[in-house]
Amino acid sequence: MKIAVYPGSFDPATNGHIDIIKRSGALFDRVIVAVLSNPSKNPIFSVEERVDILKRTCGDIKNVEIDSFSGLLIDYCKSKNANVIVKGLRAVSDFEYELQMAHMNKKLNQEIETVFIMTSSRYSYLSSSLVKEVAGFGGCIRGLVPEIIEKEIYERLK
Ligand code: PNS
Repeated sequence: MKIAVYPGSFDPATNGHIDIIKRSGALFDRVIVAVLSNPSKNPIFSVEERVDILKRTCGDIKNVEIDSFSGLLIDYCKSKNANVIVKGLRAVSDFEYELQMAHMNKKLNQEIETVFIMTSSRYSYLSSSLVKEVAGFGGCIRGLVPEIIEKEIYERLK
């Protein structure tokens, strides 16, 4: 059984993340979307809210579940019997850091593979931080994030 963990901050989840979650669900038996609990990042949504948003957006995909974690990703994967880490790759600029993390995670646990899924071209420029920057200045984020959180993002950034 191939169990994949798709980790991230998801603050907020973007349609690029949702696209990767759906495509991962088609590739693996089980996909656990794991929201990193990292208060030092000063998030606009709490971990509980981010989990809830992802549940409301992707919770109907039958082999996808949403959870949160803290500490080392590799320890979390082991606790879930996951053998794959899924990461989305947007552009060459992502590659260097992702490669470094993939090698480090491999060093920490040889049995867990990192698999990269190329972000769909229509979301290749999209990131949570850019969404926050644009929304913070009142710019349009329609189509970039799940509709259910669009208004709330503006509220949180006021
Ligand atoms: O969405 P993000 O913020 O780019 O996700 C980064 C994440 C959560 C994948 C990364 O920070 C992570 O794995 N954090 C857990 C701590 C850890 O295992 N660090 C060592 C990575 S080699």
